[in-house]
Amino acid sequence: MTSTQQPRIAIVTGGGNGIGRATALKFAEAGYAVAVWDLAEQAAEEVVSAITAAGGVAIARKVDVSKPEDCVAGVAAVVERFGRIDVLINNAGVVRDGQLVKVKDGQVVGQMSADQFQFVLDVCLKGVFNCTQAVVPTMIAQKYGRIVSTSSVVALYGNFGQTNYVAAKAGVIGMTRVWARELGRYGITANAVAPGFIATDMVKSIPEKVYNALIEHTPVGRAGQPDDIARAYLFLADDKSSFINGAILSVDGGSVI
Ligand code: NAI
Repeated sequence: MTSTQQPRIAIVTGGGNGIGRATALKFAEAGYAVAVWDLAEQAAEEVVSAITAAGGVAIARKVDVSKPEDCVAGVAAVVERFGRIDVLINNAGVVRDGQLVKVKDGQVVGQMSADQFQFVLDVCLKGVFNCTQAVVPTMIAQKYGRIVSTSSVVALYGNFGQTNYVAAKAGVIGMTRVWARELGRYGITANAVAPGFIATDMVKSIPEKVYNALIEHTPVGRAGQPDDIARAYLFLADDKSSFINGAILSVDGGSVI
C-alpha cells in the first residue's frame, strides 16, 4: 500500500474465472481496490459481489481486451472512480488448438485456420498490447506502475497443436522485455508470469491420459491451482518489487526444468 495508506488500484483482465478470479480475490484480500474486467460480464459481477461481501472494494466491467476502444473506455472508468491505476494484470486468454497441418494415413486432413490463428493472437497478444497501451499514460503521469502479463511455459518450450497460442505467449515475453526497457524510467516495471499446468476451465478438456502424464512430469506431483499464479502476480505487483523488471517468472511446479 502507499505511504498515505490509500489503497493501490489494480485491473485484472479475465478476472471473472479461473486464475483471474483467484487474482481479483487475492488482491482485494491484500487491500487493493480491484477493477475486474472480463468479456463474461456476469462472472465479473459475481467476483465483485464476493469481494464487496468480504468488505473489499471492486468494480466490474465488460471489456473485450481484443478491442482497443473497450480498453480505453475501461481505463477512463477506473480513473474516474479511483483517480489512478497502479497495477495491470494482463491475464485474459483463450485457446483454439489445432495442428499446423493435420495428417492421417499419409494424407493431409486438416490445418489450423487463419481465423483460428488470428482469434488467439487478437486476445492473447493484441489484448495485452491494447490494455497496456491504454493504462500506460496514466502510469507515466503518476510515475508509478506495475504491469504483469501472462505468458505460459509453452512459450518457452513449444506445445503440440498450439502454433497460435505459443506465438501469442512468446510475443508477450518479447513485449514485456521491450516495456521493461521503455518504461522503467517512469517507475513502471513490466514482468510476466509463465504458468505451467493450472487446473482451470481452460484445461478441462484435456484427456485423462494426458492429464495424468502432465502430473507425472511435474516434480511437485500436482497440478497448479489458480492461487499459485495469483500469488506470483501479487509478488510482482508489490511496491517493493521495484527492482524486478523484464523478468519472466515460471510458476510450474518445476515441470520444465
Ligand atoms: P479461464 O478460461 O479459466 O479464464 C479466462 C478468462 O478470460 C475468462 O473469464 C474469459 O471470459 C476471459 N476472456 C476470454 N477472452 C476475453 C477477452 N477477449 N476479453 C476479456 N476477457 C476475456 O483461463 P485461465 O486458465 O484462468 O487462464 C488465465 C491466463 O493464464 C490466460 O492468459 C491463459 O492463457 C494463461 N495460462 C493458463 C494456463 C492453465 O494451465 N490454465 C497455463 C498457462 C497460461
